[in-house]
This record gives sequence, C-alpha cells and structure tokens, in this order.
Amino acid sequence: MTIDWVSWIGLAIRWLHVITGIAWIGASFYFVWLDNNLRKGPHSQPGEAGDLWAVHGGGFYHNKKYLVAPDDLPEHLHWFKYEAYFTWISGFLLLGVVYYYGATLYLIDPLKADLSQIEAIVIGLGSLVASWLIYDALCRSPLGRHHRLLGVIWFALLTAAAYGLDQVFSGRGAYIHVGAMIGTAMVANVFFIIIPNQKKVVAAMLRGDQPDPALGIAAKQRSLHNNYMTLPVLFIMVSNHYPMTFSNPYGWAVLAGISLSGIIIRHFFNLRHHGKTHGGLIALAVAIFVLTMIFAADMQHRAQAALKPDGAISYADVEPIISRHCTSCHAAQPSHEFFEITPADVMLETKAQLEQHAARVRAQAVEADIMPLGNETGMTPAERARLGAYLDQLRDQKSAP
Ligand code: HEC
Repeated sequence: MTIDWVSWIGLAIRWLHVITGIAWIGASFYFVWLDNNLRKGPHSQPGEAGDLWAVHGGGFYHNKKYLVAPDDLPEHLHWFKYEAYFTWISGFLLLGVVYYYGATLYLIDPLKADLSQIEAIVIGLGSLVASWLIYDALCRSPLGRHHRLLGVIWFALLTAAAYGLDQVFSGRGAYIHVGAMIGTAMVANVFFIIIPNQKKVVAAMLRGDQPDPALGIAAKQRSLHNNYMTLPVLFIMVSNHYPMTFSNPYGWAVLAGISLSGIIIRHFFNLRHHGKTHGGLIALAVAIFVLTMIFAADMQHRAQAALKPDGAISYADVEPIISRHCTSCHAAQPSHEFFEITPADVMLETKAQLEQHAARVRAQAVEADIMPLGNETGMTPAERARLGAYLDQLRDQKSAP
C-alpha cells in the first residue's frame, strides 16, 4: 500500500480552510446585514443603535446593538476572531504545501521565468509582506479618509501585482498569490486593527471613560474594506478549477474583470440592506462578467490562431510531444518522482488513450497551459497548437458522416 501523503495532507488542510473560511465569511456577512438592518424604535434607550427581530430555525431572535457598554457587561462575551485567524493559518499552510513544496509543479513556469524554488518562494512571500505594508500605509495616510479613492487605488495596485506576478509565475501561481495578498490584508485587519481597537474600546467603556473615536473609525474602515474584498478572494479560491481564467494570455485582466463584478455585487447587497435596491448594479456586474468572458475567449483564440500549423497532422506527429511532456506522469507506471499512480486516472500512452481523453487533454494542455504540471518540460505554445490541431482533426473525423 502506498499513501499519497502530499495529496491527503493537502486535502485535510484545504478542508479546514474551507470550513474556517465559511465560518468567518458567514459571520461577517451576517453582521454586515445585521448592522444595516437595525432599526431604532420608540422603545430604544439612549445609547442603543437599534434592534432587530428575526426568526430562524424555529426560534425567535432579538438582537440589540449597544453603542456604549451596558451597565453590567456579561461574563461571557463572544469575540469573533478565531474564524479569521484559522482561515489565514490554514490558507498559509496550503500555500506552503501546494505552491512552495510543489513549486516546480504549480508555481514556476520555466517559459516565463526559470526561477529556482527558493527564488519563487522569496518572491511569493515578499508579495504578501509588501501588500500588507503598502495597504496599511495607505489606510493610515490622509487617503484613508477617502473610501472610494482608496478603493480605486488599492484595486489598481492589486491589478498591477496580478500583472507583475503573471510575468514570473504560472497563471495559477499568480492568481493564488493575489488571493493570498488580499486574504492576508483582511486577516491582518482583524488581527492588528479591528480586534485590538475593540479591546481598547471595551476597556475604556468598562472604566466609564469615553473611548477614543479614532479607534472605532479605524476599525470601521478596515471592516468596510474586508467586506468589499471578500468576493474577489472567493473567486480566486474557485478559479483553480477554471483554467480558462488564469491561464489566459491576459489572465491578470480576466482576474480584474471578475473581481470588479464581485465588488459591485457586494455593493448591491450593502445598499439593499439599507432598503435601497439598485437592480442596475446587478446588471452592471453581469455585463462586466460577460464582457470579461468574451475578452478572455477572444484573446485565447487569437493566441492559438497565430500558431495553428498548416496541413494534416498524424498521430506520429503528436506522439513525441505526448511522450516528452505527459507520459512521465500519465502512464500505467509513472516515472515522475512525485507520482506513483496515474494522476486523474488519465493514461496517455497510446493513440486510443489519447482519443479517449481528447476533450480533457484539450482543456488542460491546449486551451490552457496547466498540463504538463508546472510546465517542467517546457512545452512550447507551438507544440500546444500542434496537439490542438490534431485533436481538432479527430473531432472533425468523428462528426463527419
Ligand atoms: C508532473 C506530472 C504531470 C505531467 C507531466 C502531466 N500531468 Fe496531467 N495531471 C497531473 C496531475 C497531478 C493531475 C490531477 C489534477 C491536478 O492535480 O491538477 C493531472 C490531470 C490531468 C488531466 C485530467 C484533468 C481533468 O480533471 O479533466 C488531463 C486530461 C491531463 N492531466 C493531461 C495531461 C497532458 C495532455 C499532459 C502533457 C501535455 C500532462 N497531463 C502532463 C500530472 C501531470
């Protein structure tokens, strides 16, 4: 019996990441909703921001928000923070196991930059640290008071980072680093600003002092940012399954387009909680998503059309490509050091096997460049075009009467 440790450990951490991430985002969406739905009534006492009645799971809930600490603070006061911390810890471990331990497979693309594993890791970690330092400085600067302008600048900086990382990393590696940059900023907001400021506010209230309003303003600013950063990060988490996004020649622009539509969707819900429904925002988000899709497909098509070989291609023309770039892993007995069993149960050692998996091979190695993993063997765009032309031929022969 052989146990594929890396995959199992990866699965366990990814599962933890999804569980804690859902708990965090779920609680944070709930509190944004709750905060926006609190209403003041004639019964509200001074110092209360409002209350809300809700029904869920067979019971009634009555939430009330206090702007100052109630006379006697209950002994059991829940702080929402571990969800955020464990999401970051598990995400960081995942980055380490998948992208840093497996750098040659998932992070480095020798056709873009022939980095060593150490160089790639230094660039990756450096991007996380740099993003927090820059973002935090922006928030503390006078710009911090101008929410919209700051948002636009932060979005532009992240897009520039996506472009820059896409020049040196695999498309997938670039995407995940942008996600990790945003996620790190979000969790650091909770760890360095929101929770410490809340602690100081609670301590001041318990002393009966007036807390410094700057503490609350800074915490509110960071929560607002976190709220808008959530949907782009969630997209990046699932983008892994959609190579047509990250392995597009303009992957960074596709990321910017889809993220923008996510930010607009979040804005729609924020307004809606206040009773303002702007359906136009949803239409705008959908339009941006569709335009991004058309742009991505067109750029992909142009890149491939430029390389399409002339004339008929035979199996003998593509067999050397497959055996050079694929069968070290996709064989009954893989020879690749990282794989003992055939990945995804896709064997590509014969013509019949290639035909059997034609559509999936096209998706992985022609439409996208995720296979061979990490492009360790340096499969060129021309080779992909040749393989694509052969698969096109197979499809045309099959559909001919
Ligand atoms: C270094 C090992 C390695 C090499 C080389 C490699 N693959 Fe893969 N392949 C994998 C792994 C691992 C998976 C499982 C999915 C994953 O982890 O991304 C996979 C999955 C696949 C899948 C199934 C994806 C799906 O779910 O539909 C196809 C098709 C595929 N590879 C085709 C190819 C082709 C074509 C080549 C050569 C151009 C190639 N692979 C080279 C490791 C490799």
